[in-house]
Amino acid sequence: MKMTSSYFAISPTSPDERTWLQETYSRVDILVNNAGVNPTMQPQEASLLTVDMDTMLTTFNTNVLAVARITQAVIPLMQVNNYGRIVNVSTEMASLSSMSSDYYPLAPSYRLSKVGLNGLTAIFAKELQGSNILINAYSPGWMKTDMGGSDAPFTADEGAETAVYLATLPDSGSQGGFFAEMRKFGGAIALPW
Ligand SMILES: NC(=O)c1ccc[n+]([C@@H]2O[C@H](COP(=O)([O-])OP(=O)(O)OC[C@H]3O[C@@H](n4cnc5c(N)ncnc54)[C@H](OP(=O)(O)O)[C@@H]3O)[C@@H](O)[C@H]2O)c1
Repeated sequence: MKMTSSYFAISPTSPDERTWLQETYSRVDILVNNAGVNPTMQPQEASLLTVDMDTMLTTFNTNVLAVARITQAVIPLMQVNNYGRIVNVSTEMASLSSMSSDYYPLAPSYRLSKVGLNGLTAIFAKELQGSNILINAYSPGWMKTDMGGSDAPFTADEGAETAVYLATLPDSGSQGGFFAEMRKFGGAIALPW
């Protein structure tokens, strides 16, 4: 397996930046779609009855459409060598089976956007079937970051453990999966969609 020696972080929202990516890097091996926004603390996010549609649109733009854009731009740079690992950072709160649970805040903009991210993962996986470009989503768990806050039990490094696993899958590895954080279960466990 070949690994890139350089790391870059770009905002995927501008077509100019996509052009820059294609002109600057002749190939890409690993893409981790980690950037995300979470407006859950806004009062309107406590209910789908009151959620603000502009906030929902902004959230979808960053958490779903930007991921689609950057992934569209990067896949051709992976196809050059028929090698790629794409990791989409989702959340267990996006499991459809969790939507009626009292355990999570309703958080409609955030959760529905991550449902969209999961769907995007599954559709890209279908289109990449038969290639050595593997795309998977995972939930990092509650992490101490700006989004997660200081009460979170785990560090960002711990949250990244499953991302590293998915970014370094062997050629026979999972395609189009949705995984829980490995730390919690001691291994790669699929989450219900
Ligand atoms: N923290 C948790 O407990 C938790 C739990 C489950 C899932 N997640 C997921 O984990 C991922 C990372 O979250 P985090 O906790 O690290 O959140 P964070 O502390 O709020 O950091 C979010 C990151 O996304 C970047 N970002 C946001 N909008 C962007 C845009 N339009 N273009 C480029 N970059 C943008 C931010 O860049 P700037 O700093 O430059 O704005 C920042 O680096 C997210 O996808 C989140 O949904 C987090």
